[in-house]
Amino acid sequence: MARITVADIQALKSRGEKIVMLTAYDFPSARIAEEAGVDMVLVGDSLGMVVLGYDSTIPVTMEEMLHHTKAVVRGCQRSIVVGDLPFMSYQASVEDALRNAGRFLQEGGCQAVKLEGGAHMAETVRRMVQVGIPVVGHIGLTPQSINQLSGYKVQGKTPEAAERLLEDAIALEQAGAFAIVLETIPAPLAELVSRRLRIPTIGIGAGAGCDGQVQVWHDLLSYATTFLPRHIPRHVKQYADVGAAIRQAIEQYAAEVRAGTFPTTKESFAMNAAVLAGLAETKA
Ligand code: KIV
Repeated sequence: MARITVADIQALKSRGEKIVMLTAYDFPSARIAEEAGVDMVLVGDSLGMVVLGYDSTIPVTMEEMLHHTKAVVRGCQRSIVVGDLPFMSYQASVEDALRNAGRFLQEGGCQAVKLEGGAHMAETVRRMVQVGIPVVGHIGLTPQSINQLSGYKVQGKTPEAAERLLEDAIALEQAGAFAIVLETIPAPLAELVSRRLRIPTIGIGAGAGCDGQVQVWHDLLSYATTFLPRHIPRHVKQYADVGAAIRQAIEQYAAEVRAGTFPTTKESFAMNAAVLAGLAETKA
């Protein structure tokens, strides 16, 4: 099965076809996403909140990201896998960024990396692309800057902020990013940015005018969202209630164990009666 390439993703925009991206954090979720026809699988640093139980993405480490990236890569043969550079793995220096992005490709086995930030990250993106690392940009609401942004709020609403966002998008495109995630910005602004860029935009809370969409696995499926240390953003549409189905199944299992109705002979293994009788005699 041929893997989707960076060029294939860009061709989707040229043909006016939408790009489907979804996060995944382990082998089964990646395999299901791929079988369902997802083009790009993102091992997001949202891992920290939806899988590891941190209250933001700030504590996520390179080792945690690589551990999960390897599992996702084992689950994907066709989808392009994008590894998310965690907080402080690329901001301190271009050298750090190159080394850590390189680890995602070399050790993690993914095909591209994503990083947060606009024009100020352009030089880093340029250097990564120069050495052969495909990069997805991420602007708008950038969760790694949550302390600076003072909350998960819509970005790019004022004339200055909207102008800056457009400049950031252009700077990332010029630096060689092959796609840009636009998170939680007004839909008309995302549409304008998408029209101005040659590379695809992938929206999350950025309206239908983007060239593609990305969502977090747990949000889409309502998996454990009731107790995760994370609010459910307004842009989420829950396509299933997997969490409720899992809870119901486990409650039934617990009830049957307590009632002695599980396991039955169907889930048990028989034994030759003579062997059992012999054993009983030896012990008598
Ligand atoms: O970490 C993540 O899952 C992301 C997406 C929300 C774009 O960055």
